[in-house]
Amino acid sequence: MKYDQLIIYYFSGTGNARNAAIWIEKFAKGKGLRTHLINIDRFKTVDVPELFERTLIGFCVPTHGFNVPPIVLKFLTKFPKVKNIDSFILNTRGGLKLYKFFLPGLSGVAQLLPALILMMKGFRIVGMQPLDLPSNWLFLHPGLKEKIINSIYNRCQGIVNNFATNLLEGKRKYKALISLPVDLAVIPISVGYYFFGRFFLAKTLIATNACTNCDLCVSQCPVEAIRKVDERLFWTYKCESCMRCVNTCPQRAIETAHGFSGLIVVIVYVLLIPFIISILKYYDILDIEKQSKLFEQGWSLITTSILILFGFLSYRLLHFIMKYKIANRIITYSSLSKYKFWRRYKPPKY
Ligand SMILES: Cc1cc2nc3c(=O)[nH]c(=O)nc-3n(C[C@H](O)[C@H](O)[C@H](O)COP(=O)(O)O)c2cc1C
Ligand code: SF4
Ligand code: SF4
Repeated sequence: MKYDQLIIYYFSGTGNARNAAIWIEKFAKGKGLRTHLINIDRFKTVDVPELFERTLIGFCVPTHGFNVPPIVLKFLTKFPKVKNIDSFILNTRGGLKLYKFFLPGLSGVAQLLPALILMMKGFRIVGMQPLDLPSNWLFLHPGLKEKIINSIYNRCQGIVNNFATNLLEGKRKYKALISLPVDLAVIPISVGYYFFGRFFLAKTLIATNACTNCDLCVSQCPVEAIRKVDERLFWTYKCESCMRCVNTCPQRAIETAHGFSGLIVVIVYVLLIPFIISILKYYDILDIEKQSKLFEQGWSLITTSILILFGFLSYRLLHFIMKYKIANRIITYSSLSKYKFWRRYKPPKY
């Protein structure tokens, strides 16, 4: 074996990245390595065990919006500088299975950005592995069925064992670079998600009348994003939409408010923005149609900012009206996640 010690840092919303980290750690332990598995939830400082010469450090994290979650970026930028330590990045993505075919997710910069930061910290990148575990993006689709989840998991466990074998034998593996052209092409979307999309998503989560105020979701949140406002749960912009709270609530009381979010998008794009344009036209301040390409891009930035701002204000309103049973019911039943077919994603336990 090339290494005596393996340290894995992981962040995981619903358990996929954690499970991948556990597989690698178990594999390394079986080969006689000293191992450390470190969860970066709520980290305040970066804990680094003693670094011996033959140490390998891994980072196992999910992909959010074609990037790694902000908590991971924060963690990596705070990591102390090292001298020529080998490291690997494993990003779990949203894999699906259609009929017999396994469909991959897409990394975007979820490998490239951490690799760049780590190299600047003095790391040598010896492995870059994407892993298409089941998608947990509950706002977009229901959780997969157990049989499909198990099938995807079996496939991925083989991939991880192979990756770990190669790394521990000193071979370098850069599977993530296969999709480089597509990953580079989606950079604008990853930037849009990082600066706008994630804030919109943070304001789609709600606690329904079924909530018993047990506070499990509050204590489980990896970034302390859920606050109590007027004795009821309130999701702040710190939320990374990791889906842990939605998955762990024992009452299934957290919903992704599809109906309400759809309404906000319609109000902003169909009513509010056309209204602003007509005012600007009326007072001859601006003729949007006659503006340059650069202005068009700037304008879409403005409209997205309006959506985020409106989303923020309306979430306050939503939180207020949800204390009334009837409003709570309407919002709850207009959320697709309320219905049985919209399963919560449950990964196998290890
Ligand atoms: C808000 C959000 C954004 C996501 N964005 C992506 C993405 O850009 N590409 C992708 O392949 N999967 C994406 N996914 C799916 C997750 O990366 C995937 O299910 C991952 O395995 C979850 O890992 P975890 O269980 O450790 O949190 C996203 C999931 C969520 C909840
Ligand atoms: S875990 Fe569920 S029941 Fe408990 S406080 Fe959170 S939303 Fe309410
Ligand atoms: S509030 Fe829920 S979805 Fe948001 S970061 Fe915390 S656990 Fe994840």
